[in-house]
Amino acid sequence: MEEPMNKQPIVFVKDLYKKYGGKNTASYEALKGINFEVNEGEFVGIMGASGSGKTTLLNLIATLDRPTSGTIEINQRDISTLKKNQLSDFRAQELGFIFQDFSLLENLTAAENIALPLTLTNTKKNKIDDAVEQVAQKLSIEGVLQQYPAQLSGGQKQRVAAARALVHQPKLLLADEPTGALDSQSARDLLELLT
Ligand SMILES: Nc1ncnc2c1ncn2[C@@H]1O[C@H](COP(=O)(O)OP(=O)(O)OP(=O)(O)O)[C@@H](O)[C@H]1O
Ligand SMILES: [Mg+2]
Repeated sequence: MEEPMNKQPIVFVKDLYKKYGGKNTASYEALKGINFEVNEGEFVGIMGASGSGKTTLLNLIATLDRPTSGTIEINQRDISTLKKNQLSDFRAQELGFIFQDFSLLENLTAAENIALPLTLTNTKKNKIDDAVEQVAQKLSIEGVLQQYPAQLSGGQKQRVAAARALVHQPKLLLADEPTGALDSQSARDLLELLT
């Protein structure tokens, strides 16, 4: 089938290797030559046994760790060419993360947690308030915005974490077992919302 010329993958991974350890410790090759592409708008799940390298792969794509060899392009940029200070801007603008343990900041309200990606990129306050309001509505958490994480249920925490990952409309959303802490109904709901 013929592909339209302008269709570029949002993630392009080629010959990716990751070896942990070495030198004075035993080395372990967690990734051995991974190749794949993800197109804009695509929803991809990575499955595999515990220890098979899923988190390793996500951390490399998230620019939180460096591959031993191979190429990762995100939105047509080779991320290995980004310098340390460029990396934090790149992450703030292009990427959204959802972690298995939510990683909400306990002394910030739900609204302040959701606003973080925008606060970090110096967005104006009324713009932030609008964006938080909008995403909170989509995720049905308008009612808990002024509460602190300790006052939220597991499912509410996960939706706050999802709202934070989506509030700045990232090109790419990465999630490491985002439904791991949820019951099966909440897990289905969250995946539907992400889609
Ligand atoms: N920092 C590290 N140093 C050494 N080995 C590591 C390190 N991180 C991960 N590994 C090893 O790499 C392999 C892949 O780990 P990874 O965390 O990517 O697996 P996973 O597929 O995410 O597993 P799970 O489903 O249990 O989360 C494992 O054998 C692990 O022991
Ligand atoms: Mg993992």
